[in-house]
Amino acid sequence: MFQKYLERKFSKPEISVGLDIGSYSVKVVEIKKDKDSYTFKALGVSTVNGNQPRDFTEAIKKACEEARISTKKVNASVFSQGTIIRYLLLPSMSREELNRAMNFEIERYIPFGKEEVASDYQVLREDAGKKNMQILLVATKKKIIEERAKIIEDAGLDPQVVTIDSLILKNVFGVNYPEKKDTTVGLLNLGTKITNINIVRDNFSYFMRDIQLGGENITHLIKEKLDIPDLEAERLKQEPSEKEDEIFKAIEPILGNLLNEIYLSFDYYESEFGMAVDEVFVSGGTAQLKKLVSFLSDNLGREVNTLDVIKNFSFDRNVSQERLKSMSICLAVATGLALEAFN
Ligand SMILES: Nc1ncnc2c1ncn2[C@@H]1O[C@H](COP(=O)(O)OP(=O)(O)OP(=O)(O)O)[C@@H](O)[C@H]1O
Ligand SMILES: [Mg+2]
Repeated sequence: MFQKYLERKFSKPEISVGLDIGSYSVKVVEIKKDKDSYTFKALGVSTVNGNQPRDFTEAIKKACEEARISTKKVNASVFSQGTIIRYLLLPSMSREELNRAMNFEIERYIPFGKEEVASDYQVLREDAGKKNMQILLVATKKKIIEERAKIIEDAGLDPQVVTIDSLILKNVFGVNYPEKKDTTVGLLNLGTKITNINIVRDNFSYFMRDIQLGGENITHLIKEKLDIPDLEAERLKQEPSEKEDEIFKAIEPILGNLLNEIYLSFDYYESEFGMAVDEVFVSGGTAQLKKLVSFLSDNLGREVNTLDVIKNFSFDRNVSQERLKSMSICLAVATGLALEAFN
């Protein structure tokens, strides 16, 4: 997305690497595209031990060592923290006119000096009558992107597309569920610090939002309510066994907050576009939380499923299928980033 890192491509690559720098773990995947089929060529995952830039660089190095990726060019994304995201509805116009218009629009939406800011936009969709176009405008301080790029460069890599997690989830959905083109789906990626929400229909992203809520908050609440150490709380969260009901009761307030944010997002879509969100798919490490899927489907009153990130992919012999399958729920962002290169 952000110009410095995105040389708009004329020839599309055959191979692409997605690097997802999460706060819990770094994931790297290499994907090969051959006509309409996709193959996982490499996979690497490494836990992040700390929250300093060098901790992320270290985890990136480890993940790439495991994956043995064949190129240094990687697609990555920036946190949406500190990123300004705006949806604009503009009358349809040519791309040149839009470029000029956006120069003005950007200044209207940014609370700091233009020179401090890197910004870009994407046409999300144009309505059928070509009267209006919906634009996603993204701006962030150059400093944030530079810090992010440095973490990647220090690991010996060359960052390419720097975009936003929520926006690339639709790539993964599009490849794995082409038959659901005419369905409106809510994609929820539940991580450690952040939950990404994206509402997608016909490969267009109608709405996206990142909520500062994730597995970390859940662990913290278990720790407080049961008065146990962090590690024990994390273990119980992942393997509650006979304590399942007790744990679930303890974390219900957080799940309630999450639900409210989802309601707000779905309401926005439904009132703005006059269509309902038909189905929901969840991914991310926190989507493995016991009872989460049934909690969401009971409360949202619609079908909720786990997103099968690797459903329509083949696997290279060098990649352990077992590892890929056990990790796949956490690979939505990395896979979506890799797929971005083929768009
Ligand atoms: N079985 C499980 N049940 C519940 N939560 C789990 C389970 N396994 C892992 N998690 C949680 O998943 C989270 C890690 O998920 P993920 O890898 O998607 O996060 P991340 O991408 O590193 O974080 P973020 O995107 O928020 O920076 C951790 O909070 C971890 O506690
Ligand atoms: Mg994540």
